[in-house]
Amino acid sequence: VRMERQAVQRAREAFQSGRTRPLEFRLQQLHALQRMITEKETEIATALKQDINRSQYDTPLLELIGIENEIKLAIDRMAQWAAPRPVEKNVLTISDEVYIQPEPLGVVLIIGAWNYPWALTLLPLVGAIAAGNAAVVKPSELSEYSSLLLRELYPVVTGGVAETQDLLRLRFDHVFFTGGSTTGKLVMEAAAQHLTPVTLELGGKSPCYIDKDCEIRVACRRITWGKFVNCGQTCIAPDYILCEPSIQSQVVDCIRLTLLEFYGADPKCSPDYGRIINQRHFNRIMSLMEGYTPVVGGQSDSSQCYIAPTVLKDVPPHSRLMQEEIFGPVLPIVTVSDMDDAIRFVNEREKPLALYIFCNDKKAVKRMIEETTSGGVTVNDVMMHYTLSSLPFGGVGHSGMGRYHGKHTFDQLSHQRACLIRSLKMESVNLARYPPQDRRRARRSPTRWQQTADINSNGQPIV
Ligand SMILES: *[C@@H]1O[C@H](CO)[C@@H](O)[C@H](O)[C@H]1NC(C)=O
Repeated sequence: VRMERQAVQRAREAFQSGRTRPLEFRLQQLHALQRMITEKETEIATALKQDINRSQYDTPLLELIGIENEIKLAIDRMAQWAAPRPVEKNVLTISDEVYIQPEPLGVVLIIGAWNYPWALTLLPLVGAIAAGNAAVVKPSELSEYSSLLLRELYPVVTGGVAETQDLLRLRFDHVFFTGGSTTGKLVMEAAAQHLTPVTLELGGKSPCYIDKDCEIRVACRRITWGKFVNCGQTCIAPDYILCEPSIQSQVVDCIRLTLLEFYGADPKCSPDYGRIINQRHFNRIMSLMEGYTPVVGGQSDSSQCYIAPTVLKDVPPHSRLMQEEIFGPVLPIVTVSDMDDAIRFVNEREKPLALYIFCNDKKAVKRMIEETTSGGVTVNDVMMHYTLSSLPFGGVGHSGMGRYHGKHTFDQLSHQRACLIRSLKMESVNLARYPPQDRRRARRSPTRWQQTADINSNGQPIV
């Protein structure tokens, strides 16, 4: 507790001193972060190999390139993002200065997640720094090797559930949390005690609809990648497939062939296939599969936290598997009678973090987007909306609140201060708002206030 308090105290002092505000300081911090990522790429990939047996090639692709791009973008655009933004005036303020000034919030607590321990910790940090905040970073204790490495490279607070709870009792100016909805509720509750705003990057069951008239082979290839990369432990992974019964076996066949192509006959020996983070999650995922006969995969090895890429077909819509986020390499297929049925299915459930639609009919796609909701949507691919800094990334409803990436992170961790600068001249303009009533009425009806600007600096009406 003492260590955490000290870390927060230090961050508070740094912010109060004004040190974190100048753009030069922010740039210097971002350059340091950039150097750290570039120089430690191999160590970072090795740590993730130890944490979840992730392929060495996946870490740069899935995490590091994204972080580097966001740092570059922030370095390039920060001055522009931080500049005061003049806005429209009304007639009463026509000669005044009116603008929005983004300003730092103060001390931001960033609680990262274990599945992408670098991106989910450092991306919010990039925005926090760019916006001039002081940050306290708490990586997940579950991705042990990554957390240890991060602690060597950057000042962070570490610890498990108890330490995080202690940390959350302290006062912050914003809490940025990535993780599950159960913990998300605790974070929000703790933050409420201080009226601290939160960003909650949660998850949920992201549906993936495949239309019967699309290139199913290509669709399944993309879905297979998105589902089984990082061993299914991705918050925007397609959670389940919705399709018509007529194409279900074709979908299964295509996924089976793709898996063979990606990971060979035994994914357990593939250098490209990962493991489940720990025994608890291994058991949780295994229990979700209970009672099903997989049509693809199903093998497991608890000594390695290994679960083969698994597909289950004809999964009943109300089974337990369809109630909670799977967050593992298990892909259920639920059949629907048509797109309308799929839309109904999606709308009957909590708002998902992502929605995927595979369909060639542009009009039908637009309709499905219009008649559903989700944090984000990618059509004819999975997860790719995440890679665009220009798109706000975040959930809606149970999948989270707040958004980030690129300028969106900067805005999320800034206060948009409303600024109006008037002069003490032209007092006559104001006479209409002062009592007594009769003078007011004598001058001009208050409903015609707009016209009060037609008065020159001597208080004479301009005709
Ligand atoms: C990691 O993956 C390799 C395949 O590249 C496998 O041989 C090894 O047993 C796995 N290690 C663990 C701890 O699961």
